Amino acid sequence: MREQSGMTTGMTHTGITERLRNDRGAAVDEVRKTGFTVIEGVEDQEDLDSVIAAFGHAIPQYDGSLAYEVRAEPGFEGRAYSKSQNEIRAHTEAPGWQPPPSYLALWCHTQARGAGGETCLADVKRYVTNLDPSLVERLRSRDIQWSGTNTSGTGSAGTLAPILARTESGGEILRFSYNLLTSGDYDPPLDGEVPEERLPWGRFGRDLAHRVHEYFRQSAEKIRIPENAVLVWDNQRMAHARTPYADGRRHLTRYWISAGER
Ligand SMILES: [Fe+2]
Repeated sequence: MREQSGMTTGMTHTGITERLRNDRGAAVDEVRKTGFTVIEGVEDQEDLDSVIAAFGHAIPQYDGSLAYEVRAEPGFEGRAYSKSQNEIRAHTEAPGWQPPPSYLALWCHTQARGAGGETCLADVKRYVTNLDPSLVERLRSRDIQWSGTNTSGTGSAGTLAPILARTESGGEILRFSYNLLTSGDYDPPLDGEVPEERLPWGRFGRDLAHRVHEYFRQSAEKIRIPENAVLVWDNQRMAHARTPYADGRRHLTRYWISAGER
Protein backbone atom coordinates (compact mmCIF):
# COMPACT_ATOMS: atom_id res chain seq x y z
CA MET A 1 0.00 0.00 0.00
CA ARG A 2 1.12 3.55 -0.52
CA GLU A 3 1.73 5.54 2.63
CA GLN A 4 0.02 8.88 3.11
CA SER A 5 0.26 11.00 6.18
CA GLY A 6 -0.71 14.48 5.20
CA MET A 7 -3.33 16.59 3.64
CA THR A 8 -4.02 16.92 -0.02
CA THR A 9 -6.17 20.02 -0.34
CA GLY A 10 -3.71 22.67 0.78
CA MET A 11 -6.09 23.46 3.62
CA THR A 12 -3.60 23.62 6.44
CA HIS A 13 -3.38 25.68 9.61
CA THR A 14 -6.22 27.15 11.58
CA GLY A 15 -9.10 29.11 10.12
CA ILE A 16 -10.49 26.15 8.23
CA THR A 17 -14.05 27.44 8.63
CA GLU A 18 -13.08 30.68 6.88
CA ARG A 19 -11.22 28.84 4.13
CA LEU A 20 -14.12 26.48 3.45
CA ARG A 21 -16.51 29.40 3.41
CA ASN A 22 -14.39 31.11 0.76
CA ASP A 23 -13.66 28.03 -1.32
CA ARG A 24 -16.30 25.44 -0.64
CA GLY A 25 -15.64 23.61 -3.91
CA ALA A 26 -11.93 22.81 -3.41
CA ALA A 27 -12.40 19.90 -1.01
CA VAL A 28 -15.29 18.47 -3.03
CA ASP A 29 -13.22 18.74 -6.23
CA GLU A 30 -10.35 16.90 -4.57
CA VAL A 31 -12.67 14.02 -3.62
CA ARG A 32 -14.11 13.97 -7.13
CA LYS A 33 -10.60 13.61 -8.53
CA THR A 34 -8.92 11.21 -6.12
CA GLY A 35 -11.79 9.73 -4.10
CA PHE A 36 -10.71 11.32 -0.81
CA THR A 37 -9.18 14.32 0.91
CA VAL A 38 -7.55 15.10 4.24
CA ILE A 39 -8.47 18.47 5.74
CA GLU A 40 -6.20 19.61 8.56
CA GLY A 41 -6.73 22.27 11.21
CA VAL A 42 -10.18 21.10 12.29
CA GLU A 43 -9.97 22.37 15.85
CA ASP A 44 -13.56 22.49 17.08
CA GLN A 45 -17.17 21.63 16.30
CA GLU A 46 -17.67 24.77 14.20
CA ASP A 47 -14.76 23.75 11.98
CA LEU A 48 -16.13 20.22 11.72
CA ASP A 49 -19.62 21.51 10.84
CA SER A 50 -18.16 23.59 8.03
CA VAL A 51 -16.33 20.54 6.64
CA ILE A 52 -19.57 18.57 6.58
CA ALA A 53 -21.50 21.48 5.07
CA ALA A 54 -19.02 21.60 2.18
CA PHE A 55 -20.14 18.08 1.21
CA GLY A 56 -23.80 17.92 2.29
CA HIS A 57 -25.40 17.19 5.64
CA ALA A 58 -24.85 14.61 8.39
CA ILE A 59 -27.34 11.73 8.55
CA PRO A 60 -28.15 9.36 11.46
CA GLN A 61 -25.94 6.25 11.78
CA TYR A 62 -26.71 2.75 13.06
CA ASP A 63 -27.51 3.98 16.58
CA GLY A 64 -29.53 6.96 15.32
CA SER A 65 -26.98 9.63 16.26
CA LEU A 66 -25.12 11.93 13.88
CA ALA A 67 -21.72 11.40 15.54
CA TYR A 68 -20.28 7.95 16.27
CA GLU A 69 -17.22 7.56 18.48
CA VAL A 70 -14.63 5.18 17.00
CA ARG A 71 -12.72 4.05 20.07
CA ALA A 72 -11.87 0.61 21.48
CA GLU A 73 -14.29 -0.60 24.14
CA PRO A 74 -14.23 -3.78 26.23
CA GLY A 75 -16.26 -6.68 24.92
CA PHE A 76 -15.31 -6.49 21.23
CA GLU A 77 -11.78 -7.93 21.39
CA GLY A 78 -12.76 -10.98 19.34
CA ARG A 79 -14.55 -9.20 16.48
CA ALA A 80 -13.55 -7.28 13.35
CA TYR A 81 -15.52 -4.25 14.58
CA SER A 82 -15.02 -0.47 14.78
CA LYS A 83 -14.90 -0.54 18.59
CA SER A 84 -12.12 -3.14 18.64
CA GLN A 85 -8.41 -2.74 17.85
CA ASN A 86 -8.51 -5.44 15.18
CA GLU A 87 -8.03 -5.23 11.44
CA ILE A 88 -11.20 -4.39 9.51
CA ARG A 89 -11.11 -5.46 5.87
CA ALA A 90 -12.41 -3.61 2.83
CA HIS A 91 -16.04 -2.48 2.87
CA THR A 92 -18.29 0.42 1.97
CA GLU A 93 -20.18 1.96 4.86
CA ALA A 94 -23.84 1.16 5.48
CA PRO A 95 -24.54 -0.89 2.34
CA GLY A 96 -27.96 -1.62 3.87
CA TRP A 97 -28.95 2.04 3.50
CA GLN A 98 -30.85 3.24 0.43
CA PRO A 99 -28.77 5.02 -0.72
CA PRO A 100 -25.64 4.44 1.37
CA PRO A 101 -24.01 7.64 2.70
CA SER A 102 -22.48 9.70 -0.13
CA TYR A 103 -19.40 10.51 1.92
CA LEU A 104 -17.79 9.36 5.12
CA ALA A 105 -15.80 11.63 7.40
CA LEU A 106 -13.41 10.56 10.15
CA TRP A 107 -12.24 13.32 12.52
CA CYS A 108 -9.13 12.28 14.40
CA HIS A 109 -8.73 13.45 17.99
CA THR A 110 -6.04 11.02 19.20
CA GLN A 111 -4.05 8.92 16.74
CA ALA A 112 -2.50 5.59 17.77
CA ARG A 113 1.12 5.78 18.81
CA GLY A 114 3.28 3.12 17.23
CA ALA A 115 2.31 1.08 14.22
CA GLY A 116 -1.18 0.55 12.87
CA GLY A 117 -4.49 2.35 13.02
CA GLU A 118 -4.25 3.54 9.43
CA THR A 119 -7.35 4.04 7.32
CA CYS A 120 -6.94 2.41 3.90
CA LEU A 121 -8.84 3.49 0.80
CA ALA A 122 -9.05 2.16 -2.74
CA ASP A 123 -11.32 2.78 -5.73
CA VAL A 124 -13.04 -0.60 -5.72
CA LYS A 125 -15.79 0.64 -8.02
CA ARG A 126 -13.23 1.25 -10.74
CA TYR A 127 -11.55 -2.09 -10.02
CA VAL A 128 -14.70 -4.22 -10.28
CA THR A 129 -16.06 -2.25 -13.25
CA ASN A 130 -12.91 -3.21 -15.17
CA LEU A 131 -13.20 -6.94 -14.50
CA ASP A 132 -14.36 -9.37 -17.18
CA PRO A 133 -17.60 -7.98 -18.75
CA SER A 134 -19.65 -11.11 -17.98
CA LEU A 135 -18.61 -10.86 -14.34
CA VAL A 136 -19.43 -7.14 -14.23
CA GLU A 137 -22.86 -7.96 -15.63
CA ARG A 138 -23.44 -10.32 -12.70
CA LEU A 139 -22.35 -7.61 -10.25
CA ARG A 140 -24.96 -5.31 -11.82
CA SER A 141 -27.83 -7.78 -11.91
CA ARG A 142 -27.61 -10.12 -8.90
CA ASP A 143 -29.28 -8.69 -5.78
CA ILE A 144 -27.74 -9.23 -2.37
CA GLN A 145 -29.53 -8.81 0.94
CA TRP A 146 -27.62 -6.06 2.78
CA SER A 147 -28.60 -5.97 6.40
CA GLY A 148 -29.29 -2.58 7.99
CA THR A 149 -27.88 -3.49 11.38
CA ASN A 150 -24.43 -4.33 12.66
CA THR A 151 -22.96 -5.45 15.98
CA SER A 152 -24.60 -2.47 17.72
CA GLY A 153 -27.93 -4.21 17.04
CA THR A 154 -29.66 -1.06 15.83
CA GLY A 155 -30.13 0.39 12.35
CA SER A 156 -32.51 0.12 9.44
CA ALA A 157 -34.48 -2.70 7.81
CA GLY A 158 -31.71 -3.19 5.24
CA THR A 159 -32.03 -3.33 1.49
CA LEU A 160 -31.80 -5.61 -1.51
CA ALA A 161 -29.33 -4.31 -4.12
CA PRO A 162 -26.58 -5.49 -6.46
CA ILE A 163 -22.91 -4.71 -5.77
CA LEU A 164 -23.08 -2.18 -8.61
CA ALA A 165 -26.45 -0.42 -8.53
CA ARG A 166 -27.63 2.06 -11.14
CA THR A 167 -29.02 5.34 -9.86
CA GLU A 168 -31.84 7.42 -11.32
CA SER A 169 -29.34 10.02 -12.47
CA GLY A 170 -27.45 7.44 -14.54
CA GLY A 171 -24.61 6.92 -12.07
CA GLU A 172 -23.62 3.74 -10.27
CA ILE A 173 -23.20 3.02 -6.56
CA LEU A 174 -20.76 0.45 -5.17
CA ARG A 175 -21.76 -1.70 -2.19
CA PHE A 176 -19.14 -4.05 -0.81
CA SER A 177 -18.29 -5.91 2.39
CA TYR A 178 -15.46 -8.41 2.54
CA ASN A 179 -16.85 -9.67 5.84
CA LEU A 180 -20.41 -10.13 4.61
CA LEU A 181 -19.32 -12.00 1.47
CA THR A 182 -16.88 -14.27 3.33
CA SER A 183 -18.72 -14.80 6.63
CA GLY A 184 -22.32 -13.58 6.26
CA ASP A 185 -21.71 -10.98 9.00
CA TYR A 186 -20.50 -7.33 8.89
CA ASP A 187 -18.47 -7.67 12.13
CA PRO A 188 -17.70 -11.39 12.36
CA PRO A 189 -15.83 -13.26 15.09
CA LEU A 190 -12.14 -13.46 14.16
CA ASP A 191 -12.08 -17.26 14.25
CA GLY A 192 -15.34 -17.81 12.37
CA GLU A 193 -15.47 -20.42 9.62
CA VAL A 194 -18.73 -20.31 7.65
CA PRO A 195 -19.86 -22.93 5.11
CA GLU A 196 -20.42 -21.65 1.57
CA GLU A 197 -24.17 -22.29 1.60
CA ARG A 198 -24.63 -19.79 4.43
CA LEU A 199 -22.90 -16.96 2.56
CA PRO A 200 -25.02 -14.33 0.75
CA TRP A 201 -23.48 -15.21 -2.62
CA GLY A 202 -21.83 -18.60 -1.93
CA ARG A 203 -18.42 -19.41 -3.41
CA PHE A 204 -18.75 -16.74 -6.11
CA GLY A 205 -19.09 -13.95 -3.54
CA ARG A 206 -16.30 -15.32 -1.40
CA ASP A 207 -13.92 -15.55 -4.37
CA LEU A 208 -14.85 -12.02 -5.43
CA ALA A 209 -14.15 -10.76 -1.89
CA HIS A 210 -10.72 -12.40 -1.95
CA ARG A 211 -9.92 -10.78 -5.33
CA VAL A 212 -10.95 -7.37 -4.06
CA HIS A 213 -8.91 -7.91 -0.89
CA GLU A 214 -5.83 -8.75 -2.96
CA TYR A 215 -6.32 -5.65 -5.12
CA PHE A 216 -6.84 -3.60 -1.98
CA ARG A 217 -3.70 -4.99 -0.33
CA GLN A 218 -1.61 -3.98 -3.31
CA SER A 219 -3.02 -0.60 -4.19
CA ALA A 220 -4.89 1.03 -1.30
CA GLU A 221 -3.75 4.37 0.06
CA LYS A 222 -2.74 3.88 3.67
CA ILE A 223 -3.60 7.04 5.57
CA ARG A 224 -2.60 7.90 9.12
CA ILE A 225 -5.08 10.69 9.81
CA PRO A 226 -3.28 13.49 11.67
CA GLU A 227 -4.82 14.70 14.93
CA ASN A 228 -7.28 17.57 14.35
CA ALA A 229 -7.70 16.49 10.74
CA VAL A 230 -10.72 15.05 8.92
CA LEU A 231 -10.46 12.38 6.25
CA VAL A 232 -13.41 12.55 3.85
CA TRP A 233 -14.03 10.03 1.07
CA ASP A 234 -16.61 9.06 -1.52
CA ASN A 235 -18.38 6.08 0.06
CA GLN A 236 -20.26 5.15 -3.12
CA ARG A 237 -17.00 4.52 -4.98
CA MET A 238 -14.17 3.86 -2.51
CA ALA A 239 -13.95 0.91 -0.11
CA HIS A 240 -12.21 1.49 3.21
CA ALA A 241 -10.39 -0.69 5.72
CA ARG A 242 -8.41 -0.27 8.92
CA THR A 243 -5.12 -1.77 10.01
CA PRO A 244 -4.92 -3.23 13.55
CA TYR A 245 -3.34 -1.12 16.28
CA ALA A 246 -2.12 -1.49 19.85
CA ASP A 247 -2.67 1.96 21.38
CA GLY A 248 -6.09 1.96 23.08
CA ARG A 249 -6.09 5.77 23.27
CA ARG A 250 -6.87 6.07 19.55
CA HIS A 251 -10.08 8.11 19.16
CA LEU A 252 -11.90 9.36 16.09
CA THR A 253 -15.44 10.54 15.44
CA ARG A 254 -17.25 9.21 12.39
CA TYR A 255 -19.90 11.04 10.37
CA TRP A 256 -22.10 9.87 7.51
CA ILE A 257 -22.82 12.58 4.97
CA SER A 258 -25.61 12.74 2.42
CA ALA A 259 -25.09 14.91 -0.63
CA GLY A 260 -28.81 14.73 -1.42
CA GLU A 261 -31.80 16.82 -0.42
CA ARG A 262 -32.70 16.99 3.23
FE1 LIG B 1 -16.46 1.34 8.08
